[in-house]
Amino acid sequence: MNLSALLRKRFHAALNELTDQPEDFAGMIRVAADPKFGDYQSNACMPLGKKIGQAPRDVATKVVDALQIEDVCETPDVAGPGFINIKLRDEFLSSTIVEMIGDERVGVATTEQPEKIVIDYSSPNVAKPMHVGHIRSTVIGHALSETLRFVGHEVITDNHLGDWGTQFGIIIYGYKHFGDPDVVAANPVPELASLYRLTNQLIEYQKAKASLPQLNTKLAEAESHAETEDAAAKAIESDEKATAKEKKKARKSADAARRRFESIKSDIASTQAKIADVDNDAKLAALAAEHEDVPAAVLRETAKLHEGDAENRALWEKFLPHCKDEINRIYDRLGVTFDHTLGESFYHDRLPGVVEMLNKLGLTTKSDGAVCVFLDGFDSPMIIQKRDGAFLYATTDLATLQYRNEVFQCDRILYVVDSRQSEHFEKFFAMAGPLGMENIELVHVSFGTVLGKDGRPMKTRSGSLIGLESLLDDAVARAKDVVCNPERLSNMSPPMGEEEQNQIAEVVGMGAIKYADLSHHRTSDYRFDVDKMVALEGNTATYMQYSYARTQSILRRVAEEQGIADIESWIGENISTPDIQLREPAERALAIALIRFEEAIDNAIAAYTPNQLCDYLFDTAKAYSTFNDACRVLGNTDPTILKTRLALVVLTGRVIKQGLKLLGIGVCDRM
Ligand code: ARG
Repeated sequence: MNLSALLRKRFHAALNELTDQPEDFAGMIRVAADPKFGDYQSNACMPLGKKIGQAPRDVATKVVDALQIEDVCETPDVAGPGFINIKLRDEFLSSTIVEMIGDERVGVATTEQPEKIVIDYSSPNVAKPMHVGHIRSTVIGHALSETLRFVGHEVITDNHLGDWGTQFGIIIYGYKHFGDPDVVAANPVPELASLYRLTNQLIEYQKAKASLPQLNTKLAEAESHAETEDAAAKAIESDEKATAKEKKKARKSADAARRRFESIKSDIASTQAKIADVDNDAKLAALAAEHEDVPAAVLRETAKLHEGDAENRALWEKFLPHCKDEINRIYDRLGVTFDHTLGESFYHDRLPGVVEMLNKLGLTTKSDGAVCVFLDGFDSPMIIQKRDGAFLYATTDLATLQYRNEVFQCDRILYVVDSRQSEHFEKFFAMAGPLGMENIELVHVSFGTVLGKDGRPMKTRSGSLIGLESLLDDAVARAKDVVCNPERLSNMSPPMGEEEQNQIAEVVGMGAIKYADLSHHRTSDYRFDVDKMVALEGNTATYMQYSYARTQSILRRVAEEQGIADIESWIGENISTPDIQLREPAERALAIALIRFEEAIDNAIAAYTPNQLCDYLFDTAKAYSTFNDACRVLGNTDPTILKTRLALVVLTGRVIKQGLKLLGIGVCDRM
């Protein structure tokens, strides 16, 4: 049940009698900050009073008179300048809890408007090892697909692999020049990865060398600009006639110029470090000297692949399955699956058709030999085909959109992709209308960057991105330290064997990484800090999993105490509304938290923000912890108290388990 939605509906009806725009005010309902004043509060009457020229308190009284809400709450109070405080009725809470227990969906309704939704997520460029940057799309996309499916949408997940781009040119070049076919055949995955790294390092080296002169010129310009600005600022600062505002402005501008200079300086430093890495390694330096212009050569290999060159096609066909094995290993560990994996290569043959169609529609313009589409509201065009005939990322996305429209016939497509691609998606979405696909809702579910513990982009010392697999291993190892330490293990009965420990460490480690990502608003950057992620306290998956394990441990012990084999089924069969008596504040608070589950799911879906579900689970786990401290379950002889508390424990376990499942996170029966 979505309590807020229910209250909104009732308020809407009541407000109807006072204004012809009830929808503007019905939504002004919040969870009350202090339970002393009730559970929910509406502050609609202040703005409404202003609008209709009546005192807010009078308006509030009229609203309360018109409200038909007695099945849900006590008669609402009017407070302060015109707040309406709402206290849920005990019977309402009890009967809702009983309903939730009897429902395998724990009271979460399915949507009234099911849609067919394609979710394009993960979509790494294969041929290079997955790095930490890939975690976000994979984890957020997976959580959204689980959640949207749970509420009844038909979800089609599609991993739009980058299996056709320059990165294949890189391994083809690497293989041809540095590869040993026997070694690659014997151990393809790591060998291809190291060929990728080697070739890429040469590319970066040669690009760095080529860019240095230009960077130095830019630096000199920036330095003199910074000096000029500084001098100008000093002059204004010592000018008695200048206002404080003018002085501040001049200083700000001088500071900005200084920062630009510093940032170019640091670019040069990292460029020089890249160069030094190769120069200091005799073998690498020799390779770099021997192979001229690797970047251009790699582009030629890519172009040959696209043109159908037999040798490069054969190599691509040979390598691709190994690249897929590599990413599938990570998906297996993360428990992520896809309905489709239609990579960029799948659309290759359709690309000329896209250009042709755009030509026919009169949407294209030739500019500098390239085929472009100029769109209203954008400064730069969308390039569809380069002058050398090559197609682009955007061309493939257009072909993919057509395919999804025709074959999947979907209502909505979510692209779970880094926010740095926003401009691409804005332009690309603007093309849907002219192409006759305005029927599909296109959404860029964008996200920020994963930073290192220090708040800077996460890189290894040599500047390459840290491999995803080593981060997963690390999280699992830390999870084991935290959850399976000797002190905790000594309390376990029966004792916990090595196998169970490893299993728990894997579930906790994967959960930690996923939850750390999902619990931040997707558009903000976050710091990857393994120690914080696996902490037993705080807004972590570990805390939620631990809370779940506590519910299960209590249920096992009560089952033993009462001689009942399956306590969950027993509660399901033996509970009715009068059995639930919420006498303690901690019981009531936990019951309300549990009832808010659907509301949290709806909120997480509305803006594609799984962090709202995380926040909800955290609040619920905290309410459970307070309940646990205050309300004894075990050894309780009063049958009503026992049933009430057992019901709350059972339901807490189910809500946390289901909530984590929607986030792609598992639980363990004991920890
Ligand atoms: N492979 C792309 C990248 O790594 C992401 C693809 C996202 N999906 C899409 N349809 N463009 O940047």
